[in-house]
Amino acid sequence: MNRLHVVILAAGQGTRMKSELPKVLHRIAGKAMLRWIVEEAQTLSPEKIIVIHGHKGEQVKECLADLPITWIEQAEQLGTGHAVQQALPALKDADQVLVLLGDTPMISEDSLRELCDNTNVDQLGLLTEFLDDPTGMGRILRDKQRKVTGIVEQKDATIEQLEINEINTGIMLLPMQFLPIWLAALENHNAQNEFYLTDTIAMAAEQQVAIKTSHPLEPEEVMGVNTRRQLAYLERYYQQSVANALLDEGVTLADPERFDLRGELNIEPDVTIDINVIIKGECHIASGCDIGANVILKNVKLAENVKVLPNSVLEDCSIGANSHIGPFARIRPGTETGEAVKIGNFVETKKAKIGRGSKVSHLSYIGDANIGEQVNVGAGTITCNYDGVNKHKTIIEDGAFIGSDTQLIAPVKIGKGAFIGAGSSISKDAPANKLTLSRGKQQTIEHWQLPKKG
Ligand code: UD1
Ligand code: CA
Repeated sequence: MNRLHVVILAAGQGTRMKSELPKVLHRIAGKAMLRWIVEEAQTLSPEKIIVIHGHKGEQVKECLADLPITWIEQAEQLGTGHAVQQALPALKDADQVLVLLGDTPMISEDSLRELCDNTNVDQLGLLTEFLDDPTGMGRILRDKQRKVTGIVEQKDATIEQLEINEINTGIMLLPMQFLPIWLAALENHNAQNEFYLTDTIAMAAEQQVAIKTSHPLEPEEVMGVNTRRQLAYLERYYQQSVANALLDEGVTLADPERFDLRGELNIEPDVTIDINVIIKGECHIASGCDIGANVILKNVKLAENVKVLPNSVLEDCSIGANSHIGPFARIRPGTETGEAVKIGNFVETKKAKIGRGSKVSHLSYIGDANIGEQVNVGAGTITCNYDGVNKHKTIIEDGAFIGSDTQLIAPVKIGKGAFIGAGSSISKDAPANKLTLSRGKQQTIEHWQLPKKG
């Protein structure tokens, strides 16, 4: 086995993003670009992943602190060759060094694997691409036998060289047995006064080191992000590819261009998703579910045939089969429902267990509550769970009926089959199978007169 090390170049400033945020922390599908690249690199099981950081390095480190990265600082950005030079001490045990760019987030595992499979330890692998408009990119130089002889940067190229449309993607696999010598020989006598990593290619060619080229499966994989337009373009590219995969798996998308996944989705066939749905975190959606327009799902588990009506927001919850949620429902963390539950409009739930067949249909807050089966919670019911310091629990047992506009002042328990009269403030436990209510007596003032003006 070759010992593979990965070096990700991410010290550049990214001026054209016009941002306080370091470029590599800008997100695609909710994930920082640099995280995308590190995760792709991880699929190759390298022995080390080195990130060369510079601009606002502390912030970058903090954001990716959970990943197994060896961080190396390049205090002054003197070029891509200089950047890799900084990593040399950390590369001592490597046989091959895979160079990736911190602003090229969509590179796929398959394309990287092909590059690696294609290149032996004593060879040099280059990922190149053919572009209709190669402006700005390094051009691949080849001799009459089509053998690679070097790379010339846009700013150093002759008019003839600028015609070449095979470009350097920046991704390459370098043989460690030669790399230190090549890097030491780099000079910065060029248009940008930089130490170009790309100058090592001509050195390899001169020394008869075989240079193998391969190409990405899709051109978007090697598109760099220098501007927010390019970031937006790759975001759509990613979302479109997710949407296509979902369509292929038997999911109906009302409009594939108005679907956004920012996380992991585990989905079964025969789910329908209306427009402008955003799915975040880790979600599981079972077959037969119907997700309405403008719904946001984050870390949500939906069992079979759940209907989420438009404009509902669900987070960290699980919903039982055949349930109806929304429209305009807010299901907050810790909500778990049984089957065939109905949660209607303007209902907020948090840390609430709601049993099979129960209904909370209108304008309610249900927090820190345990609701049994076949319970009917009337419109405007509030669990008063917070006394200003602590949270308390409301328990409603099976078959209870809570009249509209009731406040349940926790801790409180409503017994099995209990009836609570509308408009009650319930602060003591209500017994099973009885009507309990607390309500000021209604009176009418016979001789009441409208007050006079002035
Ligand atoms: C580089 C390549 C070019 C290739 C293009 C692909 C060189 C000399 N040129 O050009 O052939 O077509 O990428 O996008 O390699 N970086 C550092 N430290 C530095 C300089 C750069 O970490 O001192 C990082 C940047 O943050 C960036 C990457 O290296 O992630 C590429 O640098 P950039 O300046 O954008 O190189 P290009 O001119 O685009
Ligand atoms: Ca660039």
